[in-house]
Amino acid sequence: MSEKKTMLSGIKPSGDLTLGSYLGAIKNWPARAEEFDCYYFMADMHAITVRQDPAALRRRTLEQLAQYIACGLDPEKNTLFIQSHVRQHAELGWVLNCYAMFGELSRMTQFKDKSAKNADNINGGLFTYPSLMAADILLYQPDFVPVGEDQKQHVELTRNIVQRFNGVYGDVFKMPEPYIPKVGARIMSLTNPAAKMSKSENEDTGRVTLMDSPAVIMKQFKRAVTDSDTERCVRYDPENKPGVANLMAIYAAVTGKSFAEIEAEFEGQGYGKFKPAVGEAVVETLRPIREETERLLADKAYLEGVYRAGAEKAAYVAEKTLRKVYKKIGFVAR
Ligand code: TYM
Repeated sequence: MSEKKTMLSGIKPSGDLTLGSYLGAIKNWPARAEEFDCYYFMADMHAITVRQDPAALRRRTLEQLAQYIACGLDPEKNTLFIQSHVRQHAELGWVLNCYAMFGELSRMTQFKDKSAKNADNINGGLFTYPSLMAADILLYQPDFVPVGEDQKQHVELTRNIVQRFNGVYGDVFKMPEPYIPKVGARIMSLTNPAAKMSKSENEDTGRVTLMDSPAVIMKQFKRAVTDSDTERCVRYDPENKPGVANLMAIYAAVTGKSFAEIEAEFEGQGYGKFKPAVGEAVVETLRPIREETERLLADKAYLEGVYRAGAEKAAYVAEKTLRKVYKKIGFVAR
């Protein structure tokens, strides 16, 4: 058994991956492989809590796998898999449903947001989503769960479930910690800095996807909202200048520069110089990822090999946890 600590994270293939998913999540993953045992998965079971077109879901799941690899996740060093290939997620998800309280599930911000946006399809899965997410996490007994700010509440709920479950049955689950990046934890829409950049919404103008062409990316940044104050200078002030702060956060995340360095760089210049500069930095960051994704997508046999091996390894670990849980709660062993 490896001595390394464990990390796990997932992304729903509910839309094309955006700059937000990249900066808030994937970008930070490859470097961790030396230090941690890492599991990353395509959360297709979570994606269907909102209606999906089957062909699009299939395409995006594979594209997402190719993008993980193109972003630097080496399948030899990380376990990459598709959630629905590892049946233990659904099984433990059911068990944990019985340890998640109606009241706490009702308080989840994402549930409230998504119910408001999908009023015609407020299904049970949308409501119990966090117990499946808790199962995703706890099957692998990770020390850390790297996520963007918006998923923190779900990891907190997972921690409540651990406390409740372990309180009854002893130390079954390891207590996971959310791990939120300092820069890029919350990338906002380019047209509405009050809403996060989301892969399933704002399809028109507010987002940049990893597969967008340089021309599209530049267009998006040129039309990004800044602010209406008269000062028109590049200064980090999220409260009064949320649009500028968001562009600065993006620029900081892709260039590694601090906010002070960015302010100095654009001192005395208006947004006319700043916005295209952010766009160009993003284009150069995403170009190799897009090209490598396209190359990998042409090699279906390779991708299939990766997700099969990943599922096999994940299922082995997941099954050990599931058996322990079943035994503790009193299920008769097969
Ligand atoms: P999802 O698919 O909405 O987002 C995937 C990851 O990207 C982060 N993220 C962002 N970070 C910064 N700015 C943004 N605009 C932005 N948009 C997305 C998210 O915080 C997340 O880390 N429920 C999860 C998927 C999941 C999961 C898990 C994650 C299922 N099971 C177990 C961790 C562990 C979700 O919907 O993420």
